[in-house]
Amino acid sequence: MKVLVIGSGGREHALCWKLSQSDKITELYCAPGNGGTSLVATNVNIAANDVERLLKFAKTTEIDITIVGPEEPLVLGIVDEFEEEGLNVFGPNSFSAKLEGSKDFAKKFMVNNNIPTARYESYTEYKDAIRALDNFAYPVVIKADGLCLGKGVVICEDRQMAEMTLKEILQDEIFGKEGSRVVIEEFLKGTEASLLCFVSHNKLYPMESAKDYKQIYDGDRGPNTGGVGCYSPSPLFTQELNEIIKKNVLEPIEVGLEKEGHDFTGILFIGFMIEDNNPKVLEFNVRFGDPETEVVLPRLKGDLLNIFIKAMVGNLHEDDILWDEKSCMTVVLTSGGYPGYYKKGFEITGLKDVSDEIIVFHNGTSKLGEKFFTNGGRVLSITSVGDISESRELIYENIKHISFNEMGYRKDIGILEA
Ligand code: AMP
Ligand code: GLY
Repeated sequence: MKVLVIGSGGREHALCWKLSQSDKITELYCAPGNGGTSLVATNVNIAANDVERLLKFAKTTEIDITIVGPEEPLVLGIVDEFEEEGLNVFGPNSFSAKLEGSKDFAKKFMVNNNIPTARYESYTEYKDAIRALDNFAYPVVIKADGLCLGKGVVICEDRQMAEMTLKEILQDEIFGKEGSRVVIEEFLKGTEASLLCFVSHNKLYPMESAKDYKQIYDGDRGPNTGGVGCYSPSPLFTQELNEIIKKNVLEPIEVGLEKEGHDFTGILFIGFMIEDNNPKVLEFNVRFGDPETEVVLPRLKGDLLNIFIKAMVGNLHEDDILWDEKSCMTVVLTSGGYPGYYKKGFEITGLKDVSDEIIVFHNGTSKLGEKFFTNGGRVLSITSVGDISESRELIYENIKHISFNEMGYRKDIGILEA
């Protein structure tokens, strides 16, 4: 079969890496891909949000299945367009993608279906939003409704900051039309963890849990990033918590999807805040997480393409999704300045000296001849399967071989909380 993966991050490298192990695949393409995906797939120079050209490519190349990595093409309706042309594509349609594309849509879905989440109100008018601040304590969380490259959530410590944030989003329009509505939300305390699910026609099949490190500096300090380290499973997810999540979150999601007219096939990423075994949903994403994918897929046994096909056909069973007992951990090497401004194009050296026990996923690299260069804020995910403390040692030992100008990384990934 000919398979096309859309996207260019570590997530897509991990997807291509796993898919390249499938006997069913004769040709694997990644659009636009990165230096890492070029090692296991053929890169196609079409941007992930250029739906028209992707459609044309899939038709002329006779792609059998397309797998969509990032949220933007999903929200733009790539699945609707491919399906209209009779092409097989794994991912939710634009209606279901609103669960990520609009925070207001997602919150309404949660409230309508009794899914535990932070109390919220949503507004388009600046004056109304300012007035609504009276209904919340501090810190308060303010979110732009739409997709803002992970920058649309602001935790406001006091009223002054909240008013300024509302002004920036609603009046100054710093996120353009993605911020034409805001969600004001109660601040939740606890520990964050994420759960990815395969979804087949509104039925959820949870994968193994993961813990993502969002802040750039050790000790969870500094600004939020897309995620700079991760491990799976999260020790928070005990049997007891899993059962609570199934009953209070997963089952109501399935019922809600049916009731509200979805036909969701793809991936649902559920971001949780968990306090005293009480899970509340922070957000939905309608795609694999990054770097969650880099630690979850190496633990998945068997053929990933088979799971995608069965989910699309509607005959996926829990036994099709089997996991390695071993843990997996990754540390992301970043460009100096990330998540703010950073430079690209620095040569990466030392990759050949990395141990075979390490999997190096590329988040943001380009390949020129035999050389790799930095091409993003997140550059490489240094990954190991095994006991977390052993993985920690192996990963940090091997990072010493790798070098590029202004390389940074957190030193505290995988130090498990007591
Ligand atoms: P979101 O994109 O909605 O998950 O928000 C991004 C990040 O902001 C989350 O991963 C949390 O760290 C934080 N966050 C979002 N909503 C809340 C909330 N209600 N309470 C506390 N932290 C939150
Ligand atoms: N790591 C969080 C995300 O993919 O959104």
